Amino acid sequence: MARRKFVCGNWKMFKTASEADQLVRDLRSRLSSGQVQVAVAPPFTALAAARAALTGSPIQLFAQNCHWEKQGAFTGEISAPMLKELGCDGVILGHSERRQLFFETDEMVGRKVRAALEAGLHPIVCCGETLQEREGNKTWEVVSRQLRGALDASTAQQVTIAYEPVWAIGTGKVATTAQAQEVHAQIRGLLRELGGAAAADSVRVQYGGSVKPDNAAELLAQPDIDGALVGGASLKADDFARIIAGAR
Ligand code: PGA
Repeated sequence: MARRKFVCGNWKMFKTASEADQLVRDLRSRLSSGQVQVAVAPPFTALAAARAALTGSPIQLFAQNCHWEKQGAFTGEISAPMLKELGCDGVILGHSERRQLFFETDEMVGRKVRAALEAGLHPIVCCGETLQEREGNKTWEVVSRQLRGALDASTAQQVTIAYEPVWAIGTGKVATTAQAQEVHAQIRGLLRELGGAAAADSVRVQYGGSVKPDNAAELLAQPDIDGALVGGASLKADDFARIIAGAR
């Protein structure tokens, strides 16, 4: 089954609301509505401005995180229903920066996935190994543990997965197409085990980690690479538009 390619820009902690407005405008002027599903994920404070600037555009709006409870005494946190009401289409969950710097566990990511789906948000669930884990031949052990912790039979069909080797994020060290394809194929096997043939056939598995205009087309031509989660290069409208063109 042909899966529609899906490219999401993870802006991380960049762009104020007014800067987000400008970047969305720049992006809209460069993108023709196409076969590729496109999303941007600005920081929380810029979501409303980005939503307004995206009016009438097929580009989707994603957040970068959410809490698993709907509401409560969780100072500084944002819930999935809050994001939904703001006009978000989805949310990135379990990014390696959340795991490493903010101590998110597989179990927490799993709770967030369920909360997002319950609120009507599409989750992008991130996974990926560190350099030490790859060199210790633990890549699949780590990635499969992360995904088993975050997904179950019912949620496995309803998400997008982003495989992002931690050593490739923001480093300029992109995984080779063979390295990426190998893990993506394993992830597809795990999806089959968890959610059956429907999950294996329909769930998109994005690659992330130093995706740039000059490497996107080759990565995205791999049979099990269904899109990209793009950090640094998504902050420049030109580069992001070229990556999307490479996904076609
Ligand atoms: P990068 O980030 O493209 O800057 O490597 C990717 C990500 O962290 O999602």
